[in-house]
Amino acid sequence: MSNQSIKIFKGNIVFTKTKNEFTILENGYIVIKDDKIEEVSSSIPEKYKDINVIDHGNKLIIPGFVDTHLHAPQFPNRGLGLDKELLPWLETYTFPEEAKYSDLNYAKKVYKRLISELWKNGVTRSCIFNTIHKESTKLLLDMFIKSGLGAFVGKVNMDRNSSSDLTENTQQSLKDTEEILREYIDKSDIVKPIVTPRFVPSCTPELMKGLGELAKKYNAHVQSHLSENPSEVAWVKELHPEFDTYGSVYDHFGLFGQQPTVMAHCVHSDDNEISLMKKNGVFVSHCPHSNYNLSSGIAPVRKFLNQGVKVSLGSDISGGHTASSLHCMVAAVQASKMRWIDSEGELDSLTTSEAFYLATKGGGEFFGKVGSFEKEYDFDALIIDDRNLGELDITIKERIQRFIYIGDDRNILERYVTGKKIEEPKFD
Ligand code: GUN
Ligand code: FE
Repeated sequence: MSNQSIKIFKGNIVFTKTKNEFTILENGYIVIKDDKIEEVSSSIPEKYKDINVIDHGNKLIIPGFVDTHLHAPQFPNRGLGLDKELLPWLETYTFPEEAKYSDLNYAKKVYKRLISELWKNGVTRSCIFNTIHKESTKLLLDMFIKSGLGAFVGKVNMDRNSSSDLTENTQQSLKDTEEILREYIDKSDIVKPIVTPRFVPSCTPELMKGLGELAKKYNAHVQSHLSENPSEVAWVKELHPEFDTYGSVYDHFGLFGQQPTVMAHCVHSDDNEISLMKKNGVFVSHCPHSNYNLSSGIAPVRKFLNQGVKVSLGSDISGGHTASSLHCMVAAVQASKMRWIDSEGELDSLTTSEAFYLATKGGGEFFGKVGSFEKEYDFDALIIDDRNLGELDITIKERIQRFIYIGDDRNILERYVTGKKIEEPKFD
């Protein structure tokens, strides 16, 4: 093995190999070969003794955060109209904003701010909805490639029940989607296009069928919304009484785990839908802020975890108001406590390590071996300086808990994606 490509980091290493506990190596070492983790240990392995160690002292080294659901074009709408419910909010705030992204100058201005915000918050991987617009979707893909952050970026598809300026012709929608898939599927290892039907009410069966075929043809990932809000679930039932659950509509068209799939929200998924998600390996993107803001409800995360459904965390900008994964973790724990009360103690609330797992390894699995510090995982990491949060003479586990609750982007000193240090993105 050439020592040229080896790097060794030292510090207080914290990650969640399993959701049930933090794995902590106080003054531990991570050996990185090229872009991947070679080993993690509490002393320096003899064979690496000649290699210079990058010593982060008493700082924390944690995996980069993974946000599995957000809408890039909704970034300017953060905090707006959140006294509304989902469907009126979409009509009043979201669709008018999304219609602006035929203008590439406007789009670029927003995307610059969004990518900087993700970088600032240590979100090293994200799953992103753009708009229906092909050119702005390509621009966003190119900007992510330039930034060094990892992302799935989807051109949104909608050909029914939308405002006139966001209603696509079905064939054109498929053609534009295919063009993007063809151009970008192999362009970057960590920035990929993703098939993105907005949700069942905005996609005709013909469109969903075509998208399922494209996902298969290009071996692409899939993302959408599922069982988010009572009025939306009732609408899907009205549009498709022939299907037993909302999820079975996507399933019928090859958009429910036939390719790796992440579904946002899943607040109102019933037992049949949950079994199908488990069977098909569909990921949940749990978006607690958005579920509060748009009166959607509290997702049964404990039920998903108990049944072995894969769960991750999403900010859902701008149904959610912040890109901070720390705030999303806190909101996930708080939401689970309310659900515990409502279930009269049946559904246990989430622990801090479970929330951390959802924001790292849980979502990371959608990207591959990402979100943990284990052999062969991509080295995506954050270096955390928590001295301003209080004394350091508490345990490392308490320090990570404190950082989650009261830390912010100012505590993040460095960000790494696949072994490379990522500087603040600059675009001309
Ligand atoms: N369902 C369909 N579109 C959207 C959206 O933009 N945000 C949220 N939260 N739910 C949706
Ligand atoms: Fe969403």
